[in-house]
Amino acid sequence: MPVTTRSTDPTAPLPRFPADFVWGASTASYQIEGAPDEDGKGPSIWDTFVRRPGAIRDGHTGDVACDHYHRVDEDVALMRRLGLDAYRFSLAWPRVLPTGAGKVEPRGLDFYDRLVDALLAAGIEPTPTLFHWDLPQALEDEGGWLNRDTAHRFAEYAAVAAERLGDRVKRWITLNEPFVHMSFGYGFGVHAPGRALLLGALPVAHHQLLGHGLAARAVREAVPGAQVLIANNCTPVRLRSDAAAEGDRAAAEAYDILHNRLFNDPLLIGRYPDLSAYGMTDPTWGGVVRDGDLQTISAPLDGLGVNYYNPSWITAPADPAAGLPFDLAEPEEAYERTSFGWPVVPDGLTELLTGLRARYGDALPPVWITESGCAQPAGLDDRARIDYLAGHLDALARAAAQGVDVRGYFTWSLLDNFEWAEGFHQRFGLVEVDFATGGRTPRASYAWYRRLIASQRS
Ligand code: BGC
Repeated sequence: MPVTTRSTDPTAPLPRFPADFVWGASTASYQIEGAPDEDGKGPSIWDTFVRRPGAIRDGHTGDVACDHYHRVDEDVALMRRLGLDAYRFSLAWPRVLPTGAGKVEPRGLDFYDRLVDALLAAGIEPTPTLFHWDLPQALEDEGGWLNRDTAHRFAEYAAVAAERLGDRVKRWITLNEPFVHMSFGYGFGVHAPGRALLLGALPVAHHQLLGHGLAARAVREAVPGAQVLIANNCTPVRLRSDAAAEGDRAAAEAYDILHNRLFNDPLLIGRYPDLSAYGMTDPTWGGVVRDGDLQTISAPLDGLGVNYYNPSWITAPADPAAGLPFDLAEPEEAYERTSFGWPVVPDGLTELLTGLRARYGDALPPVWITESGCAQPAGLDDRARIDYLAGHLDALARAAAQGVDVRGYFTWSLLDNFEWAEGFHQRFGLVEVDFATGGRTPRASYAWYRRLIASQRS
């Protein structure tokens, strides 16, 4: 039966998952909170970056965003009605430590404390991410993630958060998408902090991973029985055509190394992949990777968070002198597209997860889909989003049937929100947000997801 019947036929069968499967939704602090300098919050790199002329489409900023900081109760009520088991949100580091280190701001912690209590009262498990890209500006002034010290500051911040919330919060996510933060933020400069260093950004990968390892240790020390995850953006890498040449295959392998293996290998098998395609043959990366770091990074995870949006199609670089050993290409197939222009490829999720299982075997911990969703045009009748979710859940069920241990699914996103360089132009929410008034209106996809979750319990 074609997936497109899901949105129009309310009796169409829904995928079935185990009774203890966790149904969630995700957001991130800078994308929803607003209140950038309230209650002692310090500036983050996003507060700075959005003011750079031309950085964000139409000059949008997250100064108000969804105004979630003032609408927590309303948002938790939306989650309760949706029937969520868990909610993934992020803590804004500069709310907790305005200059990134040293003095703790109790009012910042109080905000998250209230959110956690409200979630628990609604029967929803809080699942915080410690870093979803809003680094305290004061740390960026010291070099940001190019500076190894940031990893240690991150662990100190993790300890502060875990000590305050750990009596009630058991599942923690350290970093969100270290690949995207490295490449968009430090490689190409299209996200904060807006540095365009190309391969000079590589130390950012190692320092984030080291920060993950140190923070994971700090959380475990503070929270007995804590589960610690990381949320990696992963992509299946595809050749553009069956007639791909040897150079295309080498390019695809190089891209897989940079996007996927650079982050998953050290976490899961304790070593970095061969980076010679990037001109790196020194295993210490010129002194960046120090003795003991990989042991810290590879301490066993309780779960691997996977954020999946679409596969990547790769060809050999048209201009090898341009600096990267691959080109990103468009697929030959005419896929449906989201309003962001991203191809809709549910079977990419099956391919990705079975590929992780094949690559890492028993070293792959249980998998959690920590983001999956799509941008669609404004409006409440978002059938394309329903089709997207249904298709991806079918794909997830197929991966599970092939032996991948999948524990939960968090859709991106609960609310329309500030979509980084795209400002408010891309709408990912189950709930529509009117950014002029802050009004929230559940979409058809909200009703569908609600029915799906309820159906799993019956
Ligand atoms: C990020 C989110 C973002 C989403 C859609 C992920 O890369 O974690 O913050 O909104 O993708 O672009």
